[in-house]
Amino acid sequence: MGHSALSGTRVLLGVCAGIAAYKAVEVCRSLVDLGCQVTVAMTADAQNFVGPMTFSALSGRPVLTSIFDPNEPLAHTRLAGELDLIVVAPATADFIAKYRAGIADNGLLATLAASSAPVVIAPAMHSQMWENPATQENVAVLQSRGVLKVGPDTGLLAGGDVGIGRLADPVRIVDVCVDILSGTDRGVEGNSLSLEGIKVLVTSGGTREPIDPVRFIGNRSSGKQGTEIALQVCLMGGTATLITTLVPQIQGLFSTSIGDRLTVVEVETAQEMAEAVFGEIDQADIVIMTAAVADFRPARVLDHKYKKSSGPPNILLEPTVDILDRIGHDHRDDQVIVGFCAETENLENQARLKLVSKQADLIVANDVSKPQVGFGYDTNEVLLVTQDGHYQVPLTTKEEIARAVLSKAAEIYRNKTIKER
Ligand SMILES: Cc1cc2nc3c(=O)[nH]c(=O)nc-3n(C[C@H](O)[C@H](O)[C@H](O)COP(=O)(O)O)c2cc1C
Repeated sequence: MGHSALSGTRVLLGVCAGIAAYKAVEVCRSLVDLGCQVTVAMTADAQNFVGPMTFSALSGRPVLTSIFDPNEPLAHTRLAGELDLIVVAPATADFIAKYRAGIADNGLLATLAASSAPVVIAPAMHSQMWENPATQENVAVLQSRGVLKVGPDTGLLAGGDVGIGRLADPVRIVDVCVDILSGTDRGVEGNSLSLEGIKVLVTSGGTREPIDPVRFIGNRSSGKQGTEIALQVCLMGGTATLITTLVPQIQGLFSTSIGDRLTVVEVETAQEMAEAVFGEIDQADIVIMTAAVADFRPARVLDHKYKKSSGPPNILLEPTVDILDRIGHDHRDDQVIVGFCAETENLENQARLKLVSKQADLIVANDVSKPQVGFGYDTNEVLLVTQDGHYQVPLTTKEEIARAVLSKAAEIYRNKTIKER
């Protein structure tokens, strides 16, 4: 029952030692059903979870279980030379660290070290292992080398915890493989969408509007989505200027491999953010406004601490400058302006109203009344509203939301610049 376009394509399925190894059986089965010639490489520890017999029976090929195979001593170099794709599912924290370092002490790692085929990894592990800075940096470095990543997803983990770390749905993993093998990689989750040569201006965090030297009016924005967008811009080969109120919080999140792709500008108030955006906008191709900017600020800032004994203060507020509105109405035709909106009802209508009134190219709308969506969470679910239509991005990590937003913004940018030529 082979999918004709994929018949005869050669795929190495790497299986590492995680609980989710049993789901690799489904990935193997689906790829075989699609007509791929699948060879499975299991790490030694993975064989504690699933037996090689299952994979050899499904794939109709011997399973690479060690680098020292008496039947074929150089299987790893032969395979490396003939593969169209390597997919590792599940990819453990241990495997990711070794692969990043170029270690080649098992059949899977040795094949990877010797191959130039596209690589997809589907990490799966406990949330804390995933969020460990070493794992995060290892994954970021692999992505900057062009490795594609699917997942991990958020949900119930082995052991009963809920959080990020679940293996992406095998159907999605197979879909990504099919896209790559058939040359239609859409690049939403992977690194194949290049932002090479594109300059992106991103704002993040919540502004603080001072009342007196110790008090301010602020908001709940965690800045996670904006930080993730700036990071993904760099990993996708572009350059990012991040104007943020959160400089201390983002220290250490950007690995040294990102180098000079990122410029950070620290601001505190809506006025400072506006001035920084207006100062930088001429250099940008795409502007993404994720920051939660105060709509109002105290009309007068006291130069001394307001005394409690003076009773409840009367704080007169005045509007701040509407940055999105200003740049939406005043930017070059080849620039793409992206705004965010958080709503609790009528998501699409509200987003479309904002798109039109601010003259933006893309509005990313989230329904913050839903669980796990928006402020402070590591996950989000958004509706991308453009002048041509709307696209739902289901509940996923802020990292994948960032890629989906960048993918759409880059598509609009390319369409604009093609028209310009
Ligand atoms: C029951 C059990 C479940 C495990 N699940 C995972 C997992 O889901 N993800 C992970 O990264 N490590 C997991 N580990 C730890 C790895 O098995 C361990 O780091 C192993 O050495 C990885 O080997 P490999 O990367 O060569 O496959 C688990 C360990 C045990 C004992």
